Amino acid sequence: MPDIHFDKEKGSHLKLFTPGPVHVPERLLKEMAKPNDTHRSKPYSEMHQMAAEGLQKLLYTKNECLIFTSSATGIMEACVRNLLKDDEKGLFFSIGAFGDRWYDIGVSNGKISIKEGVEWGKAITSDVAQDALNKDNYSVVFIQANETSTGVYNPIEEVAPVIKDSGALLCVDATSSMAGVKIEVDKLAIDVCLASVQKCFALPPGLAVCSISEAAIEKAKQVKNRGLYFNFIDLHKRHVAKYQTPTTPPIPQIRGLTAQLDYILNKEGLEKRFERHEQLGTHTRKWVEDINLEMFPEKGYESNTVSTISNSLDLDISKMVSLLLEKGYRIVNGYGQLVNKTFRIGHMGEIQIKDLEKMLKVLADIIFEIK
Ligand SMILES: Cc1ncc(COP(=O)(O)O)c(C=O)c1O
Repeated sequence: MPDIHFDKEKGSHLKLFTPGPVHVPERLLKEMAKPNDTHRSKPYSEMHQMAAEGLQKLLYTKNECLIFTSSATGIMEACVRNLLKDDEKGLFFSIGAFGDRWYDIGVSNGKISIKEGVEWGKAITSDVAQDALNKDNYSVVFIQANETSTGVYNPIEEVAPVIKDSGALLCVDATSSMAGVKIEVDKLAIDVCLASVQKCFALPPGLAVCSISEAAIEKAKQVKNRGLYFNFIDLHKRHVAKYQTPTTPPIPQIRGLTAQLDYILNKEGLEKRFERHEQLGTHTRKWVEDINLEMFPEKGYESNTVSTISNSLDLDISKMVSLLLEKGYRIVNGYGQLVNKTFRIGHMGEIQIKDLEKMLKVLADIIFEIK
Protein backbone atom coordinates (compact mmCIF):
# COMPACT_ATOMS: atom_id res chain seq x y z
CA MET A 1 0.00 0.00 0.00
CA PRO A 2 1.40 3.44 -0.77
CA ASP A 3 2.29 5.42 2.32
CA ILE A 4 -0.64 7.86 2.40
CA HIS A 5 -1.29 9.80 5.60
CA PHE A 6 -3.62 12.44 6.98
CA ASP A 7 -2.43 15.73 5.51
CA LYS A 8 -3.27 18.49 7.95
CA GLU A 9 -2.14 21.24 5.62
CA LYS A 10 -3.42 20.27 2.19
CA GLY A 11 -6.04 17.59 2.76
CA SER A 12 -6.31 14.59 0.44
CA HIS A 13 -5.04 14.91 -3.12
CA LEU A 14 -6.64 11.66 -4.27
CA LYS A 15 -9.20 11.58 -7.06
CA LEU A 16 -12.03 9.46 -5.70
CA PHE A 17 -13.81 7.00 -7.98
CA THR A 18 -15.52 5.50 -4.98
CA PRO A 19 -19.16 4.69 -4.25
CA GLY A 20 -19.14 7.35 -1.49
CA PRO A 21 -17.89 9.45 0.04
CA VAL A 22 -16.98 11.07 -3.24
CA HIS A 23 -15.02 14.12 -4.37
CA VAL A 24 -16.56 17.38 -3.14
CA PRO A 25 -16.08 20.26 -5.59
CA GLU A 26 -14.25 23.38 -4.43
CA ARG A 27 -17.34 25.55 -4.96
CA LEU A 28 -19.21 23.50 -2.33
CA LEU A 29 -16.33 23.57 0.14
CA LYS A 30 -16.29 27.36 -0.22
CA GLU A 31 -20.06 27.50 0.23
CA MET A 32 -19.81 25.49 3.45
CA ALA A 33 -17.13 27.81 4.80
CA LYS A 34 -19.56 30.77 4.84
CA PRO A 35 -20.72 31.95 8.28
CA ASN A 36 -24.24 31.06 9.45
CA ASP A 37 -26.88 32.26 11.86
CA THR A 38 -28.25 29.79 14.47
CA HIS A 39 -30.61 26.94 13.70
CA ARG A 40 -33.50 28.83 15.34
CA SER A 41 -33.06 31.95 13.23
CA LYS A 42 -35.06 33.21 10.24
CA PRO A 43 -32.09 32.95 7.84
CA TYR A 44 -31.68 29.30 8.81
CA SER A 45 -35.38 28.55 8.24
CA GLU A 46 -35.21 30.26 4.85
CA MET A 47 -32.22 28.14 3.89
CA HIS A 48 -33.83 24.93 5.19
CA GLN A 49 -36.97 25.70 3.18
CA MET A 50 -34.89 26.19 0.03
CA ALA A 51 -33.21 22.83 0.56
CA ALA A 52 -36.52 21.08 1.21
CA GLU A 53 -38.17 22.60 -1.87
CA GLY A 54 -35.13 21.68 -3.97
CA LEU A 55 -35.41 18.09 -2.79
CA GLN A 56 -39.09 18.03 -3.76
CA LYS A 57 -38.12 19.04 -7.31
CA LEU A 58 -35.29 16.52 -7.43
CA LEU A 59 -37.67 13.74 -6.38
CA TYR A 60 -40.68 14.88 -8.40
CA THR A 61 -42.82 14.99 -5.28
CA LYS A 62 -45.19 17.14 -3.29
CA ASN A 63 -44.35 15.13 -0.16
CA GLU A 64 -42.40 16.95 2.53
CA CYS A 65 -38.66 16.34 2.42
CA LEU A 66 -36.98 16.01 5.81
CA ILE A 67 -33.35 16.57 6.75
CA PHE A 68 -31.55 14.32 9.25
CA THR A 69 -28.26 14.77 11.09
CA SER A 70 -27.04 11.26 10.34
CA SER A 71 -25.97 9.06 7.51
CA ALA A 72 -28.54 7.10 5.50
CA THR A 73 -28.55 4.22 7.97
CA GLY A 74 -30.20 6.56 10.49
CA ILE A 75 -33.22 7.02 8.24
CA MET A 76 -33.26 3.29 7.46
CA GLU A 77 -33.62 2.67 11.19
CA ALA A 78 -36.17 5.48 11.48
CA CYS A 79 -38.35 3.79 8.84
CA VAL A 80 -38.35 0.56 10.83
CA ARG A 81 -39.04 2.20 14.19
CA ASN A 82 -41.66 4.68 13.00
CA LEU A 83 -43.63 2.63 10.50
CA LEU A 84 -43.82 -0.92 11.83
CA LYS A 85 -45.97 -1.84 14.83
CA ASP A 86 -44.62 -4.67 16.96
CA ASP A 87 -47.30 -7.11 15.78
CA GLU A 88 -46.95 -6.24 12.10
CA LYS A 89 -44.71 -7.85 9.51
CA GLY A 90 -42.07 -6.01 7.53
CA LEU A 91 -40.81 -7.41 4.23
CA PHE A 92 -37.18 -6.65 3.45
CA PHE A 93 -36.12 -7.27 -0.13
CA SER A 94 -32.39 -7.91 -0.17
CA ILE A 95 -30.08 -8.29 -3.13
CA GLY A 96 -26.85 -7.48 -1.31
CA ALA A 97 -25.12 -6.05 1.74
CA PHE A 98 -27.33 -3.01 2.20
CA GLY A 99 -30.54 -4.99 1.87
CA ASP A 100 -29.15 -7.33 4.51
CA ARG A 101 -28.38 -4.31 6.68
CA TRP A 102 -31.99 -3.08 6.53
CA TYR A 103 -33.23 -6.54 7.51
CA ASP A 104 -30.72 -6.59 10.40
CA ILE A 105 -32.08 -3.22 11.55
CA GLY A 106 -35.57 -4.74 11.57
CA VAL A 107 -34.43 -7.73 13.61
CA SER A 108 -32.35 -5.70 16.04
CA ASN A 109 -35.31 -3.42 16.73
CA GLY A 110 -37.42 -6.45 17.66
CA LYS A 111 -39.74 -6.12 14.64
CA ILE A 112 -41.18 -9.12 12.79
CA SER A 113 -38.82 -9.05 9.84
CA ILE A 114 -38.99 -11.27 6.77
CA LYS A 115 -36.19 -11.23 4.22
CA GLU A 116 -36.75 -12.17 0.58
CA GLY A 117 -33.92 -12.06 -1.88
CA VAL A 118 -32.33 -13.36 -5.02
CA GLU A 119 -28.83 -14.50 -5.77
CA TRP A 120 -26.35 -11.59 -5.49
CA GLY A 121 -25.93 -9.98 -8.91
CA LYS A 122 -29.61 -10.36 -9.75
CA ALA A 123 -32.47 -7.91 -9.25
CA ILE A 124 -35.90 -7.92 -7.65
CA THR A 125 -38.22 -8.04 -10.64
CA SER A 126 -41.97 -7.53 -10.45
CA ASP A 127 -42.46 -11.32 -10.58
CA VAL A 128 -40.07 -11.87 -7.66
CA ALA A 129 -41.82 -9.10 -5.73
CA GLN A 130 -45.30 -10.49 -6.47
CA ASP A 131 -44.30 -14.03 -5.40
CA ALA A 132 -42.92 -12.71 -2.12
CA LEU A 133 -45.95 -10.53 -1.45
CA ASN A 134 -48.33 -13.43 -2.14
CA LYS A 135 -46.89 -15.36 0.82
CA ASP A 136 -48.22 -13.14 3.59
CA ASN A 137 -49.60 -9.74 4.60
CA TYR A 138 -46.91 -7.12 5.03
CA SER A 139 -47.44 -3.65 6.46
CA VAL A 140 -44.22 -2.11 5.20
CA VAL A 141 -41.87 -3.14 2.39
CA PHE A 142 -38.22 -2.06 2.31
CA ILE A 143 -36.12 -2.12 -0.85
CA GLN A 144 -32.97 -0.61 -2.31
CA ALA A 145 -33.10 1.26 -5.59
CA ASN A 146 -29.37 0.87 -6.18
CA GLU A 147 -27.58 -1.92 -4.26
CA THR A 148 -24.07 -0.51 -3.90
CA SER A 149 -22.41 -3.83 -3.05
CA THR A 150 -23.51 -5.74 -6.15
CA GLY A 151 -23.88 -2.74 -8.44
CA VAL A 152 -27.41 -3.82 -9.32
CA TYR A 153 -30.19 -1.32 -9.91
CA ASN A 154 -33.55 -2.81 -9.00
CA PRO A 155 -36.22 -1.97 -11.62
CA ILE A 156 -38.00 0.16 -9.07
CA GLU A 157 -40.44 1.61 -11.65
CA GLU A 158 -41.93 -1.84 -12.29
CA VAL A 159 -41.61 -3.14 -8.73
CA ALA A 160 -43.09 -0.17 -6.86
CA PRO A 161 -46.62 -0.54 -8.31
CA VAL A 162 -46.64 -4.25 -7.40
CA ILE A 163 -45.69 -3.44 -3.82
CA LYS A 164 -48.19 -0.60 -3.54
CA ASP A 165 -51.00 -2.83 -4.89
CA SER A 166 -50.48 -5.03 -1.84
CA GLY A 167 -51.49 -2.12 0.40
CA ALA A 168 -48.11 -1.90 2.14
CA LEU A 169 -46.16 1.26 2.77
CA LEU A 170 -43.08 1.42 0.55
CA CYS A 171 -39.66 2.59 1.77
CA VAL A 172 -36.93 2.97 -0.85
CA ASP A 173 -33.24 3.28 -0.04
CA ALA A 174 -31.92 5.50 -2.81
CA THR A 175 -28.64 6.21 -1.02
CA SER A 176 -26.40 5.62 -4.02
CA SER A 177 -28.80 6.81 -6.70
CA MET A 178 -30.67 9.91 -5.50
CA ALA A 179 -29.40 12.95 -7.46
CA GLY A 180 -27.82 10.65 -10.04
CA VAL A 181 -30.79 8.62 -11.27
CA LYS A 182 -34.36 9.81 -11.85
CA ILE A 183 -36.72 8.64 -9.13
CA GLU A 184 -40.28 9.90 -9.46
CA VAL A 185 -41.59 9.59 -5.94
CA ASP A 186 -45.20 10.67 -6.51
CA LYS A 187 -45.63 8.65 -9.70
CA LEU A 188 -44.35 5.54 -7.92
CA ALA A 189 -46.20 6.39 -4.68
CA ILE A 190 -43.06 5.86 -2.60
CA ASP A 191 -43.80 6.58 1.06
CA VAL A 192 -40.23 7.17 2.18
CA CYS A 193 -37.40 7.71 -0.29
CA LEU A 194 -34.09 8.21 1.50
CA ALA A 195 -30.42 8.90 0.87
CA SER A 196 -27.29 10.32 2.42
CA VAL A 197 -25.53 13.16 0.65
CA GLN A 198 -21.96 11.83 0.36
CA LYS A 199 -22.74 9.96 -2.84
CA CYS A 200 -24.53 11.38 -5.89
CA PHE A 201 -25.01 14.76 -4.20
CA ALA A 202 -21.19 15.13 -3.94
CA LEU A 203 -21.36 16.64 -0.45
CA PRO A 204 -19.36 15.61 2.60
CA PRO A 205 -20.94 12.90 4.82
CA GLY A 206 -23.06 13.67 7.88
CA LEU A 207 -26.42 14.54 6.42
CA ALA A 208 -29.30 12.42 5.16
CA VAL A 209 -32.57 13.34 3.50
CA CYS A 210 -35.90 11.73 2.70
CA SER A 211 -39.30 12.42 1.25
CA ILE A 212 -42.16 11.25 3.43
CA SER A 213 -45.80 10.72 2.48
CA GLU A 214 -48.85 11.77 4.49
CA ALA A 215 -49.71 8.07 4.80
CA ALA A 216 -46.34 7.41 6.42
CA ILE A 217 -46.86 10.27 8.87
CA GLU A 218 -50.36 9.03 9.73
CA LYS A 219 -48.99 5.52 10.23
CA ALA A 220 -46.17 6.74 12.46
CA LYS A 221 -48.75 8.37 14.76
CA GLN A 222 -50.09 4.88 15.52
CA VAL A 223 -46.72 3.29 16.23
CA LYS A 224 -45.45 3.15 19.81
CA ASN A 225 -41.83 3.55 20.95
CA ARG A 226 -40.63 5.46 17.93
CA GLY A 227 -37.69 6.74 19.94
CA LEU A 228 -36.64 10.36 20.21
CA TYR A 229 -33.83 11.32 17.83
CA PHE A 230 -35.33 9.74 14.71
CA ASN A 231 -38.98 10.40 15.47
CA PHE A 232 -40.73 11.12 12.16
CA ILE A 233 -43.59 12.97 13.89
CA ASP A 234 -41.32 15.40 15.74
CA LEU A 235 -39.12 15.94 12.69
CA HIS A 236 -42.13 16.48 10.45
CA LYS A 237 -43.91 18.79 12.91
CA ARG A 238 -40.89 21.09 13.32
CA HIS A 239 -40.24 21.01 9.59
CA VAL A 240 -43.79 21.99 8.62
CA ALA A 241 -44.18 24.61 11.34
CA LYS A 242 -40.82 26.34 11.06
CA TYR A 243 -38.53 24.69 8.50
CA GLN A 244 -36.31 23.59 11.35
CA THR A 245 -35.14 20.36 12.95
CA PRO A 246 -35.83 19.34 16.57
CA THR A 247 -32.09 19.16 17.40
CA THR A 248 -29.08 21.13 16.17
CA PRO A 249 -28.35 20.25 12.54
CA PRO A 250 -25.01 20.58 10.68
CA ILE A 251 -25.82 24.05 9.34
CA PRO A 252 -22.82 24.33 6.97
CA GLN A 253 -23.79 21.02 5.36
CA ILE A 254 -27.32 22.26 4.79
CA ARG A 255 -25.89 25.42 3.24
CA GLY A 256 -23.89 23.10 0.97
CA LEU A 257 -27.00 21.05 0.15
CA THR A 258 -28.94 24.19 -0.72
CA ALA A 259 -26.17 25.36 -3.07
CA GLN A 260 -25.81 21.94 -4.66
CA LEU A 261 -29.54 21.59 -5.28
CA ASP A 262 -29.50 25.00 -6.92
CA TYR A 263 -26.61 23.81 -9.11
CA ILE A 264 -28.32 20.50 -9.96
CA LEU A 265 -31.70 22.03 -10.74
CA ASN A 266 -30.73 25.33 -12.32
CA LYS A 267 -27.20 24.99 -13.68
CA GLU A 268 -26.61 21.41 -14.79
CA GLY A 269 -30.32 20.55 -15.05
CA LEU A 270 -31.95 17.32 -13.88
CA GLU A 271 -32.20 15.59 -17.24
CA LYS A 272 -28.59 16.40 -18.10
CA ARG A 273 -27.41 15.12 -14.73
CA PHE A 274 -29.27 11.83 -15.13
CA GLU A 275 -27.98 11.51 -18.69
CA ARG A 276 -24.40 12.13 -17.55
CA HIS A 277 -24.67 9.34 -14.99
CA GLU A 278 -26.11 7.04 -17.64
CA GLN A 279 -23.15 7.85 -19.90
CA LEU A 280 -20.71 7.22 -17.03
CA GLY A 281 -22.27 3.79 -16.51
CA THR A 282 -22.32 2.92 -20.21
CA HIS A 283 -18.75 4.08 -20.68
CA THR A 284 -17.49 1.99 -17.77
CA ARG A 285 -19.30 -1.13 -19.00
CA LYS A 286 -17.79 -0.69 -22.48
CA TRP A 287 -14.32 -0.39 -20.91
CA VAL A 288 -14.98 -3.59 -18.92
CA GLU A 289 -15.86 -5.42 -22.11
CA ASP A 290 -12.89 -3.98 -23.99
CA ILE A 291 -10.38 -5.28 -21.47
CA ASN A 292 -12.02 -8.69 -21.20
CA LEU A 293 -13.41 -8.29 -17.73
CA GLU A 294 -17.04 -9.04 -16.83
CA MET A 295 -19.70 -7.09 -15.03
CA PHE A 296 -20.98 -8.73 -11.84
CA PRO A 297 -24.65 -7.74 -12.26
CA GLU A 298 -27.01 -9.54 -14.53
CA LYS A 299 -27.19 -7.78 -17.90
CA GLY A 300 -29.85 -5.12 -18.00
CA TYR A 301 -29.76 -4.37 -14.28
CA GLU A 302 -26.35 -2.66 -14.04
CA SER A 303 -26.11 0.49 -11.97
CA ASN A 304 -25.19 3.77 -13.62
CA THR A 305 -23.60 5.14 -10.44
CA VAL A 306 -21.36 2.27 -9.36
CA SER A 307 -19.92 -0.54 -11.46
CA THR A 308 -19.25 -3.81 -9.66
CA ILE A 309 -16.81 -5.75 -11.82
CA SER A 310 -16.17 -9.49 -11.48
CA ASN A 311 -12.58 -10.48 -10.96
CA SER A 312 -12.74 -12.74 -14.01
CA LEU A 313 -9.01 -12.23 -14.74
CA ASP A 314 -8.08 -13.41 -11.23
CA LEU A 315 -6.30 -10.16 -10.48
CA ASP A 316 -4.65 -9.33 -7.17
CA ILE A 317 -7.19 -6.63 -6.39
CA SER A 318 -5.36 -5.19 -3.36
CA LYS A 319 -2.28 -4.76 -5.51
CA MET A 320 -4.29 -3.20 -8.31
CA VAL A 321 -5.95 -0.73 -5.92
CA SER A 322 -2.52 0.09 -4.43
CA LEU A 323 -0.89 0.71 -7.78
CA LEU A 324 -3.78 2.95 -8.78
CA LEU A 325 -3.41 4.87 -5.51
CA GLU A 326 0.19 5.59 -6.46
CA LYS A 327 -1.19 7.27 -9.56
CA GLY A 328 -3.52 9.38 -7.42
CA TYR A 329 -6.82 7.55 -7.89
CA ARG A 330 -8.88 5.55 -5.42
CA ILE A 331 -11.26 2.78 -6.42
CA VAL A 332 -12.44 0.09 -3.99
CA ASN A 333 -12.43 -3.64 -3.51
CA GLY A 334 -15.68 -5.63 -3.43
CA TYR A 335 -18.00 -5.19 -0.44
CA GLY A 336 -18.47 -7.84 2.26
CA GLN A 337 -18.63 -11.32 0.77
CA LEU A 338 -17.59 -9.92 -2.62
CA VAL A 339 -14.11 -8.82 -1.47
CA ASN A 340 -11.48 -9.93 -4.04
CA LYS A 341 -14.22 -11.55 -6.10
CA THR A 342 -15.17 -8.12 -7.43
CA PHE A 343 -13.98 -4.54 -7.36
CA ARG A 344 -15.99 -1.38 -7.66
CA ILE A 345 -15.65 1.86 -9.56
CA GLY A 346 -17.85 4.70 -8.36
CA HIS A 347 -18.95 7.15 -11.04
CA MET A 348 -21.33 9.43 -9.25
CA GLY A 349 -21.60 13.03 -8.15
CA GLU A 350 -19.60 15.51 -10.16
CA ILE A 351 -17.43 13.06 -12.13
CA GLN A 352 -17.28 13.95 -15.82
CA ILE A 353 -16.71 11.51 -18.70
CA LYS A 354 -13.25 12.90 -19.39
CA ASP A 355 -12.22 12.31 -15.73
CA LEU A 356 -13.47 8.73 -15.96
CA GLU A 357 -11.69 8.13 -19.26
CA LYS A 358 -8.38 9.30 -17.80
CA MET A 359 -8.67 7.08 -14.76
CA LEU A 360 -9.79 4.03 -16.77
CA LYS A 361 -6.81 4.40 -19.07
CA VAL A 362 -4.43 4.36 -16.10
CA LEU A 363 -6.30 1.41 -14.59
CA ALA A 364 -6.18 -0.54 -17.86
CA ASP A 365 -2.39 -0.12 -17.97
CA ILE A 366 -2.12 -1.44 -14.41
CA ILE A 367 -4.33 -4.42 -15.21
CA PHE A 368 -2.19 -5.33 -18.24
CA GLU A 369 0.90 -5.04 -16.07
CA ILE A 370 -0.34 -7.36 -13.29
CA LYS A 371 -2.55 -9.89 -15.04
C1 LIG B 1 -27.50 1.40 -0.83
C2 LIG B 1 -26.94 1.91 0.44
N1 LIG B 1 -27.73 1.95 1.52
C3 LIG B 1 -27.28 2.38 2.70
C4 LIG B 1 -25.98 2.79 2.85
C5 LIG B 1 -25.52 3.28 4.17
O1 LIG B 1 -25.29 4.64 4.04
P1 LIG B 1 -24.62 5.49 5.18
O2 LIG B 1 -23.21 5.05 5.25
O3 LIG B 1 -24.81 6.91 4.66
O4 LIG B 1 -25.37 5.21 6.42
C6 LIG B 1 -25.11 2.77 1.78
C7 LIG B 1 -23.71 3.15 1.92
O5 LIG B 1 -22.86 2.89 1.09
C8 LIG B 1 -25.62 2.33 0.54
O6 LIG B 1 -24.83 2.32 -0.53
